[in-house]
Amino acid sequence: MGLRWIEKELPGLRFDVMLCNPPYLPDLGFKEILVYQTTGGTFLAREVLSRGLEFADRVFLNLSSICEGVLDTLVPRSGSLKRIGRVHRIPFRVPIACRVPGYLRRLLKRGLEEAPRGRYRYWHNISTYALSRT
Ligand SMILES: C[S@@+](CC[C@H](N)C(=O)[O-])C[C@H]1O[C@@H](n2cnc3c(N)ncnc32)[C@H](O)[C@@H]1O
Repeated sequence: MGLRWIEKELPGLRFDVMLCNPPYLPDLGFKEILVYQTTGGTFLAREVLSRGLEFADRVFLNLSSICEGVLDTLVPRSGSLKRIGRVHRIPFRVPIACRVPGYLRRLLKRGLEEAPRGRYRYWHNISTYALSRT
């Protein structure tokens, strides 16, 4: 769906603000991850980062630390991405990510943290970013 529905359903309309809480698991070549659209894939985040400013003056989105490396090259030259508010360190408990063999190992190299003890084994940071015109 991405942002194409806006073009189709609301042609020519601009918004003051766009908010997005997109799926954040990069597929990293593991196609099984994409089956779970609630959390899997970075397509929507990429779309909002690269095209959000076409539709709204200010764009806010939540991103996990595990997908930042995949996304940070997608901010358009006319825009800037700034973290706002505080970083939320939260347990990472996404079932599909834990079930696909080899995937967690890859995430651990990309910002997922493993805690040696405690109730939760894996952690990541969720932050809110503001995309705005420079
Ligand atoms: C992390 S969940 C957030 C759910 C809810 N909006 C919230 O904030 O609690 C991501 C949501 O994005 C939706 N989604 C994934 N890809 C999308 C796309 N291409 N266009 C629109 N929505 C999409 C998923 O179905 C899922 O509900």
